[in-house]
Amino acid sequence: MGIDCSRIRDDIPELQNSNVVFLDNAASTLKPRQVIEAMSEFAYTTYANVHRGVYKLSMEASKIYEDAHETVAKFIGGDMREVVFVKNTSEAIQLIALTLYWNGYIGEGDEIIITEAEHHSNMLPWVRIARKAKAKVRLLPVDRRGIPRWEDINEYLSERTRVIATNHISNVTGYISPLQEIGKIAEEHDSFFVVDAAQSVPHLPVDFKKLKASFAAFSGHKMLGPTGIGVMWGRHDLLEDMEPPLGAGGTVKRVKLVDGLVSIDWEDSPWKYESGTPPIIEAVGLAKAVEYLSRIGMENVYEYERSLTRDLLEAVSALDFIRIVGPNSSDLRHGIVSFNVEGLPPDVAGLSLSRQGIAVRTGLHCAHILHDKLGFPDGSVRASLYIYNCREDITRLVEALESIYAKHVRGLR
Ligand SMILES: Cc1ncc(COP(=O)(O)O)c(C=O)c1O
Repeated sequence: MGIDCSRIRDDIPELQNSNVVFLDNAASTLKPRQVIEAMSEFAYTTYANVHRGVYKLSMEASKIYEDAHETVAKFIGGDMREVVFVKNTSEAIQLIALTLYWNGYIGEGDEIIITEAEHHSNMLPWVRIARKAKAKVRLLPVDRRGIPRWEDINEYLSERTRVIATNHISNVTGYISPLQEIGKIAEEHDSFFVVDAAQSVPHLPVDFKKLKASFAAFSGHKMLGPTGIGVMWGRHDLLEDMEPPLGAGGTVKRVKLVDGLVSIDWEDSPWKYESGTPPIIEAVGLAKAVEYLSRIGMENVYEYERSLTRDLLEAVSALDFIRIVGPNSSDLRHGIVSFNVEGLPPDVAGLSLSRQGIAVRTGLHCAHILHDKLGFPDGSVRASLYIYNCREDITRLVEALESIYAKHVRGLR
C-alpha cells in the first residue's frame, strides 16, 4: 500500500484551513484531527490524575495512561516497562545522562563519545555531565559532507569509553547513521549506546533492541502527537538496576522512617522514572498518533518519504544559486534538505518564502558546531518532509526560490 498524501491532508485541520506549504516537520509536525479529538474527548469525559486514586475516573484514566505506554512500546519493539514518558527528547537525554552519572557509571577519567553532528540536545547534556564528573567528551569529527567519520572510531575508543551517543538521523543533513554497526562497537567495548531518535522514530520502523541500544529518546510532537510528551526508552534490565535521579511523588512504593532515616522502596520501571504528575492528556494524544502511523505502516511512511526526499533534493540541487548542506546522494539522507540561497542570509530567505506561503526553518538548527564545520556560520534554510507533503509542495518551494532569487539577488521583478 502506498501513501495518498491528499487523503492524509484531509485529516490535518491546519492544512484544510490554509494554503500553507508546511516544510518544517523536523521542528514539529501538524496534528491530525484524530489526535486532537482523542485528547479533547478524554479531557471532556475521563480525565483525572493517574495512579493516585481508587475512584472510577482515576482508575479509568490510569488504565488509559498505562495502555499508552503499551501502544508506544509495541511501536518501537520494546515492552512497556522500557517506555518512560517525559517532556521531550531534550529532557529524555538529560535524564539518561543524569541517571548514568547518579548511578556511578560516569566518573572521573571516563570518556563519552559523541559526534560533531549532534543537535545540542545530544551534546550539551554530555558536555555538562562530563564537566561535573571530571570525565571527558570525545567529539568524533564529521567529513566535509557533515557525515561523522565512523571509520575512525577506533582512534576515539579507549578502555575508559563509557558511552557512545549519536543521532539516528541528523536534523541538519538528514544523514542516516549506521546504527547497527555502532551498536556492535558499543557492545564490544562494554559501553552504553544512546540513540537520539528524534528524527527517526517518526519516519521509519525502529526497533531499539535490534539496534543494541541501551537508551534512546524521541518526541511526540515530531510524530503527529502533542507537545509536552516525549519518550526516554531504556533497556529493562538497566532501568530496573538503576536508581532514578529524580525521586518524587509517583516514583515510590513506600517511604518509611527506619531508625530515624528516610528509607525508599522504589516503584518498578517505568514509573520510578516518571516523577510527579505525568503528561496524561498528552499520553492519550501520543497513543492516538502512534495508532495513526501504525495504521499507515512505518514501512510505507519510510518508502513514501524516501521518494519525496529524492525529488526534493534533486529539485533544489538543480537550482544553480543553491548550496546544499550535507551529502548529495539521497540514499544517504531521509526527509531533510538544508541549503543556502546565494546572496541571501537564511532568515531573509525564510521570510521571503513565508510571504509566498511556505514554512521552513532557518538558522543554526541547534547544531552550531556542525554549521561552523561545514562553512555555514550564519546557518541554513531547512526544508523537512512528512506524510502529508505532496509533490506539489516541492514544486511550490522551487518556484518560490526561483522568484525570491530573481527579485532579491538579480534585482528582477
Ligand atoms: C536530532 C534532534 N535531537 C533532539 C531534538 C530536540 O527535540 P525536542 O525539542 O523535542 O526536545 C531535535 C529537535 O529538533 C532533533 O532534531
